Amino acid sequence: MSETPFALSELPWSPLALAADIEAGTSAGTVWNGAEIVIWRDSRGSLHAWEDRCPHRGMKLSFGFVRGDRLACLYHGWEFGDDATCRYIPAHPELAVPPTIRVARYKAAEALGMVWVAHPDAAEPSPEDSHAVFGLRSLQIDRSAPEIADLICRVGLPGCGGLNMPERLGPLIRWRQGDLGLIAGLQPMTDASCTLHLGMESDLPGTERAAMISATVALRTLAESSRSEGLS
Ligand code: FES
Repeated sequence: MSETPFALSELPWSPLALAADIEAGTSAGTVWNGAEIVIWRDSRGSLHAWEDRCPHRGMKLSFGFVRGDRLACLYHGWEFGDDATCRYIPAHPELAVPPTIRVARYKAAEALGMVWVAHPDAAEPSPEDSHAVFGLRSLQIDRSAPEIADLICRVGLPGCGGLNMPERLGPLIRWRQGDLGLIAGLQPMTDASCTLHLGMESDLPGTERAAMISATVALRTLAESSRSEGLS
């Protein structure tokens, strides 16, 4: 496996989506350590991560629409530019909107086939992509991120052959199973739930890909069925 391009264990970056799932002109809402966040990609392909709350009346911005390089709120149509300031209020089309009307921003970057987000005051550099990762799927699991990390390092994906060389670095786990190089980014949602973003270091034909997706569901079933017994 190639070197991880940044020290995940020392950085505040967290994977919040598979990059391929946020297409240009779309948005998605998610939760990171209890905070609601909207991730969106403008028409030029640039990524943005903001608080998922309109400063007008609090509507989730992830319910809104991407219009070019702006994100528009569903409720009253206020539009926010790529710097998160309000640029246009439909009820007052002639108004020069005060720049103080803005959405709270996070840092966003794309690496290893995932969208990574950090708090706005994070001083560390953005992660860099080192090689192609083919997104497999994102899966929400009702167990904590550390519990799922421990489970993956013990069993990998159920039914997919022997597990080799699990390597954990912060929210990222990489391992080999059979002929496949797998990579998982763990997003803590709450103290008791997480989302697993799973990718492969080589692409697969459709049938094999479907089998891998089934294996991720088996992993979730295994994790959640062991809730009362613990994962050890
Ligand atoms: S709540 Fe967003 S524009 Fe009114």
